Amino acid sequence: MRLLLRPNMKYAKEIQRRKTFAIISHPDAGKTTLTEKFLLFGGAIQTAGAVKSNKIKKHATSDFMEIERQRGISVATSVMTFEYEGHLINLLDTPGHKDFAEDTYRTLTAVDSVILVVDSVNGVEEQTRRLMGVIAMRKTPVMVFINKMDRDGKNRFDLLEEIEKELKINLHPSTWPINSGKDFKGVYDLRQKSLVLFAAGTKAADEDVLKIEDLHDVVLDKKVGDKDAATLREDVELIDGVYGQLNVDDYLSGVTAPVFFGSAVNNFGVREMLDTFITIAPTPRSRQTTQRAVDVGEDKLSGFVFKIHANLDPKHRDRIAFLRVCSGKFERNKYYHHVRLDKDVRFSNPYTFLARSKDVVEESYAGDIVGLFDTGNFKIGDTLTEGEDFFFTGIPTFSPEIFKEVVNKDPMKTKQLEKGLQQLTDEGVAQLFTQFGGNKKIVGCVGELQFEVIQYRLLHEYTASVQFNTLPFYKACWIDSADKQKLADFTRFKMQNIAEDKDGKLVYLAQSEWFLQTERNNNPDITFQFTSEVQG
Ligand code: G4P
Repeated sequence: MRLLLRPNMKYAKEIQRRKTFAIISHPDAGKTTLTEKFLLFGGAIQTAGAVKSNKIKKHATSDFMEIERQRGISVATSVMTFEYEGHLINLLDTPGHKDFAEDTYRTLTAVDSVILVVDSVNGVEEQTRRLMGVIAMRKTPVMVFINKMDRDGKNRFDLLEEIEKELKINLHPSTWPINSGKDFKGVYDLRQKSLVLFAAGTKAADEDVLKIEDLHDVVLDKKVGDKDAATLREDVELIDGVYGQLNVDDYLSGVTAPVFFGSAVNNFGVREMLDTFITIAPTPRSRQTTQRAVDVGEDKLSGFVFKIHANLDPKHRDRIAFLRVCSGKFERNKYYHHVRLDKDVRFSNPYTFLARSKDVVEESYAGDIVGLFDTGNFKIGDTLTEGEDFFFTGIPTFSPEIFKEVVNKDPMKTKQLEKGLQQLTDEGVAQLFTQFGGNKKIVGCVGELQFEVIQYRLLHEYTASVQFNTLPFYKACWIDSADKQKLADFTRFKMQNIAEDKDGKLVYLAQSEWFLQTERNNNPDITFQFTSEVQG
């Protein structure tokens, strides 16, 4: 799994120093706080509180304009680039709010690894479960940060068991806590064999770190007290016996996740994770396309769009397409091949996302994210190359969970409505389906909020007025079969439940789990899938 960069690769040095990852968590677990501490370590910001939260505050859930405003702010912080110990780190933020889960899913396609923040008090929560499903599918390497150790949390062994079971991943403790809540005394770093003592509000400065080669050293008793020293010795013995040494290849293949305990708000336990991260987290890797595997060390540029962010201001209809560079070098003002449109495009103001500001970027390398101003040429999954025709695979579309029929309230604006729906769904705001054999347009989203966003944007940006009628579906399954006759029969019999997605692929809209299961049982020759690959 480890990347072997050959010295003859032109950009080996640049690729070798890059790490591109996302922090994910259930809202309120501490993702924003941890991000901020990373940036402080990286020197990208000087003071705490400088990172605008990408979190949608609870009280704002009914006010989508406020949410969009916050999301607007968050564009600047959706990618943060900083340097640490000679490494260039691209940190991709993800919205914690469940209504924006699609956004997060897609961001996960652009990273090489993930840090998962778990609240030590609440343990595994709903949003984490969903996201980990996507991560497991992609076998993305994961590190876990168990946060808020300064609060009385769950028993740490129970917590590990819960995470392993719920998220179906093996854990490997890299640090181990001494108590929690007001008795929290610090962590023992199992890799470095050092004791890091906790003091609220400090930066875990070097003097707080004590090298302890032998845990039986009495200095441990002096520092944490006899009782806690004895417990730590027992715990560490148990951990060594059960977990042994971390197998880095298991981490890189997404089988095992190293675990760190700490308190983000106190900047405690963060450095230990960051140091391990830069040592073992993967550098950009080769990626599969529809034609061939693209080697990360290739000279020619390739990259794909994984996210599009629109400007809500109708006076500025521009959008930003986020391009993940997969190979070669991206240069300003150079022509690249837009594979889907089969045309050459160039960008005079691509920008990079340094935490302080959006800077125009002259060149970027594999692993980097570049922001491209777009006036409607891009959709999710679009690929740029230096002439070759291929699309990156593994950028799935997930089944929406709420489905509504679009009712055009102003027939004079049919054209505008079509265009609006087309463009908004290109951005990935929602998915558009057309009823099979009819022309009923169905919009599918992960959360209710998107419907409000769509309605508002159709009116203000496209002057189209719509109403949504809720449909009784709960999931969309992409269907296929080697036996085309059986597929044709099924779609004919189930016409009411069949639609086509934007790429013309057939979907079965299931009313409930029971219906879906029944159809699966009755039609063993038909495959039902909850995800579909984005098509360029
Ligand atoms: P999120 O991005 O994952 O949604 O979480 P965020 O970092 O905003 O943190 C959620 C709340 O948890 C914040 O408190 C934050 O200060 C607190 N927090 C983060 N890390 C720790 C920790 O290690 N220990 C404790 N006790 N609390 C922590 P808030 O009151 O919601 O916001 P704020 O007013 O403090 O910013």
